[in-house]
Amino acid sequence: MNIVTIAGSPSDNSRSSRVLAEAARWLNEEGISHQAISVRDLPAEDLLHANFNSPELQAATKVLEEASGIIIATPVYKAAYSGVLKAFLDILPQNGFAGKVVLPIVTGGSPAHMLAMDYALKPVLSALGARFVLNGVFAADSQIRIREDGSIELDNDIALRLEDGLQRFSDSLAWSAHLAAGITAPPASQASASLRC
Ligand SMILES: Cc1cc2nc3c(=O)[nH]c(=O)nc-3n(C[C@H](O)[C@H](O)[C@H](O)COP(=O)(O)O)c2cc1C
Repeated sequence: MNIVTIAGSPSDNSRSSRVLAEAARWLNEEGISHQAISVRDLPAEDLLHANFNSPELQAATKVLEEASGIIIATPVYKAAYSGVLKAFLDILPQNGFAGKVVLPIVTGGSPAHMLAMDYALKPVLSALGARFVLNGVFAADSQIRIREDGSIELDNDIALRLEDGLQRFSDSLAWSAHLAAGITAPPASQASASLRC
């Protein structure tokens, strides 16, 4: 499996990136290797000018092209997602997420903006051709505590939701690989379980 994480916050003290780091830790524990892209590490001027010839943006595009699964994290900004993440998604090819399984992770100041994931982020992921856009994980700031060492403590229900999301992500990747191989029967590990998105 070729997994890529995308951190979509411009903040250097990012909650959503820390939740994403928890997801990456889960992947490590499961022995699932992954690569990381952070929009903060991409050249701001190239993003702002939509410079399709930027070597750094082309390299990030290539990493995504080869991915079978993507975990994408963003803060809610103005009832949607971050502008810098949109700038990055804008430079991807029209079908940049074709055939991929995508798990969104969103953090926000208010649970009232939880639906930003469904009405703002998910349509873009679908427009990019994602095969499965899974039900994502939303956490409000009050449910995420940052410890002194920079690590985070999640409220129990968020931690459980994150683990459930990651398990669904892993299951969906197995399904997706089966479908790509033209096999319609479920993978052996899920023969008795239905796919939960
Ligand atoms: C410019 C800006 C706009 C924001 N807009 C919203 C918003 O519309 N709704 C909301 O619930 N939170 C909003 N927030 C709060 C962030 O979504 C929240 O603190 C989030 O966890 C920050 O994630 P980050 O640390 O990864 O950037 C906003 C924060 C900033 C800086």
